[in-house]
Amino acid sequence: MGSVFIDSTIADEERRARLYAGDIFILPPTAGTLALIDLARQMLEEAFAPHDPRKIHEKKTAEEVSAILGKLKPLFIHHPECKEIIPRIMLEHGVDGEKLYFDVPRLRSAYPSHFLSAGIAYAFHPHRDTWYSAPMCQLNWWIPIYPLDANNAMGFYPRYFDEAVRNNSEIYNYYEWNTKSRATAAQYVKNDTREQPKAQQELEPVTVRYLPPPGGIIIFSGAQLHETVPNSTEVARYSIDFRTVHYDDVMQRRGAQNVDSRCTGTTMRDYLRASDLSHLPEEAIALYDDGSGVGDRVLQFGDKLISEVKRKVSDASMATS
Ligand SMILES: [Fe+2]
Repeated sequence: MGSVFIDSTIADEERRARLYAGDIFILPPTAGTLALIDLARQMLEEAFAPHDPRKIHEKKTAEEVSAILGKLKPLFIHHPECKEIIPRIMLEHGVDGEKLYFDVPRLRSAYPSHFLSAGIAYAFHPHRDTWYSAPMCQLNWWIPIYPLDANNAMGFYPRYFDEAVRNNSEIYNYYEWNTKSRATAAQYVKNDTREQPKAQQELEPVTVRYLPPPGGIIIFSGAQLHETVPNSTEVARYSIDFRTVHYDDVMQRRGAQNVDSRCTGTTMRDYLRASDLSHLPEEAIALYDDGSGVGDRVLQFGDKLISEVKRKVSDASMATS
């Protein structure tokens, strides 16, 4: 059973080692995280104006909300301010920006279960990110935008951190997923038919929910088993998360133990260095690439989306001019 560190100021190297061993860190809000959630809140409130984004399910249909999120989420992901704020957050927590690589931050939404829990607002079943081609050294940083409720949060299954769970992660190849499924998320409003790695056994239904204040952070290993708690409240939850890897750990192959992940491909091409937004060097990626990508199936998803976003923005401005 892991430990939970609250507002700990231990050095980054020890923190990473503890995270890889299954511990979890809850950090307080900082100027950086407050700037990040302010940006997200502003974008949400504009997109859903004049309604409260947390009550939007009372005002619009699931199809309408899904269509708005389909435009809003990519705009947030690639917002230039995000790429400035995340390196600041790293600095605030003593992380070396020359060695820290992060991927684009995602904006997540969880609506009351009866409303919308598929596609663009997919309610994640219990999973490890390492079933989705994340390396064992990946760390997840998760930040609530509004106050959390225990019935509208993220749930962790700490007992399974070092216990294998029967699963079908072998069906998942990251390159194939990027090519076929991901870009179409906004189409799935009621049901999500995309095949995803799932547990193939009963899980002990005991989750732990950490409830930091808005702008607080939960940091956890990508190998932690976690889920979106089905939202039984009447309020939507919005959160931001991003993933990081540390160069030294990538090169030394340090990280959590792989107890049960058998997916193929790697997300290593997605991370950008905090100091200059460069990608990991090829020799680092080569350590994790299993040769399952063929030709143009090896995509740098972030770059691909940027071009889609540019196209959508220019379409939208043509439509309004
Ligand atoms: Fe996850």
